[in-house]
Formats: sequence, C-alpha cells, structure tokens
Amino acid sequence: MTDLLLDIQNLHKSFKISNGLFKKSSTLRAVIDVSLSLKQGETLGIVGESGCGKSTLAKTICRLYEADSGRIIFNGQDISRSQNKAMSHLRKNIQYVFQDPNESLNPRHSIHSILAEPLIIHGEKKSGIDTRIHSILDKVGLPKSALTKFPHEFSGGQKQRIGIARALMLNPKVLICDEPVSALDVSVQSQIINLLLELQRDLGLGIVFIAHDLAVVKHVSDRVAVMYLGKIVEQAAASEIYQTPQHPYTQHLIRSIPRPVIGSPSYSPLPGEVPSPLEIHQGCAFAERCHMATRECHQTVPALLTSDNDHKVACHHRLIAKQQWIPL
Ligand SMILES: Nc1ncnc2c1ncn2[C@@H]1O[C@H](COP(=O)(O)OP(=O)(O)O)[C@@H](O)[C@H]1O
Ligand SMILES: [Mg+2]
Repeated sequence: MTDLLLDIQNLHKSFKISNGLFKKSSTLRAVIDVSLSLKQGETLGIVGESGCGKSTLAKTICRLYEADSGRIIFNGQDISRSQNKAMSHLRKNIQYVFQDPNESLNPRHSIHSILAEPLIIHGEKKSGIDTRIHSILDKVGLPKSALTKFPHEFSGGQKQRIGIARALMLNPKVLICDEPVSALDVSVQSQIINLLLELQRDLGLGIVFIAHDLAVVKHVSDRVAVMYLGKIVEQAAASEIYQTPQHPYTQHLIRSIPRPVIGSPSYSPLPGEVPSPLEIHQGCAFAERCHMATRECHQTVPALLTSDNDHKVACHHRLIAKQQWIPL
C-alpha cells in the first residue's frame, strides 16, 4: 500500500504547431520526461519562468490534455488512459484552481449556480446541494449573501476564493493551483495563500502549487521542483532547495528573490531569455545562459541524478555549484 496520492512517471506532452498550409508542422515539446510525486497533506511547489511548461504539466496531470506518454498514478491506480466512470472519479478527486479565476467562473451564472454545477454534474441529490454550498462558502470566508451575486460584483481576491470554493465542492484529494495568486494584488496574495494552507490542514489535501518565482512557493511548499524548458532540473525538500541549491538556474532564482533589506546587494538578472521549445537542444537547455557552462554542457544532456536527502539535480557541474553557493 502506498501513501502517495499522485505518482507521475516520465510524463511527456508536446503540441503540433502548424507552419502554414504547405509546410510541415513542427513539434513543440512542452513537458519532457517529468516524474513527480505528492503525498496526502503535502504541498509540492513547481517553479520556473513563464513558458517553461508548468501549466501544460498541470493540465496533463488533470487530464485536461492527453499525455503523449508516461503514467499518472492516483491513489495507486493508473489513470493515464482512464475513460468514463474512472474519469469521473478522477475529475472529482483532482481539481484545478486557475491563475485567472475568470477562466473558471461563467460571468452569466450566479455564484450559487457556479458552485452547484459540479455537484449536479456528478449526480448529487438536490437536498444535499445547498448544505454543501453553505459549508464550503464558510470555509473560504465568503458571506451567504454572495450566492445571489454574479462574478463581476467581486474583487480579484474574492473571485479567487469563489474559484477555490468551486474546486472544493466535490471534496477532492488533490488541488492543482496554477499560479493562484499571480493575478492578485500583493496585499491579497497572502490572504489566499493562508486560506489554501488552512484548507490543507483542515481537509488533508495534497496541493501542487505552481508559481513563476521562488518567493511565493518558499512559504507554502514542503518540496520544490524547478522546471526549465519542459524539464525538471532540480527537486528537493523546500529547505534543501533554499539552503543548498545545486543547479545554477535554481541559484539564480533564489538570488533574484527581492530582499527588503537596505544595503543588500542588487543582483543582475540572467542574460537572455528561455530558448524556444521548438529548437532541438543537443546539450543542456540552460547552457546558453549559464556562467558555468563548458563544452560538455553544450554537447551532452545532463541526467537528473539523485544524491543525499532525495535531492535531484540535472547539471554536469552540480558539485562545484554546490560548493560555490554562499547562503543568503
Ligand atoms: N495549447 C497549446 N498549443 C500549443 N502550444 C502550447 C499550448 N499550451 C502551451 N503551449 C506552449 O507550451 C510551452 C509551455 O507553456 P505553458 O505550459 O503555458 O508554460 P508556463 O505555464 O510555464 O508559462 C510554451 O512554449 C507555450 O507556448
Ligand atoms: Mg502557466
């Protein structure tokens, strides 16, 4: 018997990109050989620059996209190709919280019908629906008067509370939160993060928390996976990642967390941008931007190797990077 809620094994997802009527289409590899796991009550942070494949990974795990290959095991059961009844079970148990709550809230529906919809779809008896709605509304800190209103009557933070309430209606075991606070004012970001942590404590949820910077995931995650151009380049317990990062890209992400200390050294950003996922990289995809890159890095793809404390790193120079790291 396993205590893993989710066990993602060697997941690949690509998109066919059309190049016009008479040209051959290209393949964009958005998620490449990703393996991850999540336990009950645990938060796994996934971090990486925009365009590195975080949302594609999250949507493939939820089966909003079909994986090209790889396995998605939920509670010991392979759900990678599940259909019909098994799929409905999956939809109940793994829920998605969108970056922009407007994506999941139909502007023409009242909050009551938005919250009732998942229960109706899954055949809940009418008598149980209102009780469930009231209990979840209370959990996410919204008043009952919200039920007769429409999404446009709420602020961004309140809309995200409604998005979270909707995701909780079916009593899921896993919440996949895709940059749930990126679209919100800084002042309400911590309220939503605290709400998610409270819900996790009360309901024993497993949470996958996606963000594009490490500052946000730092506060919420038990473990952190760092993505670069579709691949996981480093994965470890959150404290390990912050104290002894071993991938030059993770080290850059940590150094670029703004520190509100007067006189703290300013940090120069990484040169260049994330390369196009349409390009084929012979060596390490990060090599072009990496200050440590050698010829080996440009020629050979580094494997994701596991060292002490289940710390995984994909870098030819991880040991030197580890030695050179000066904790902040
Ligand atoms: N539906 C799609 N069709 C084609 N390309 C896509 C699609 N969704 C995402 N992509 C591409 O896949 C890559 C990863 O995107 P995404 O997963 O949204 O990254 P992130 O969430 O990290 O910003 C990007 O290059 C993006 O343009
Ligand atoms: Mg995204």
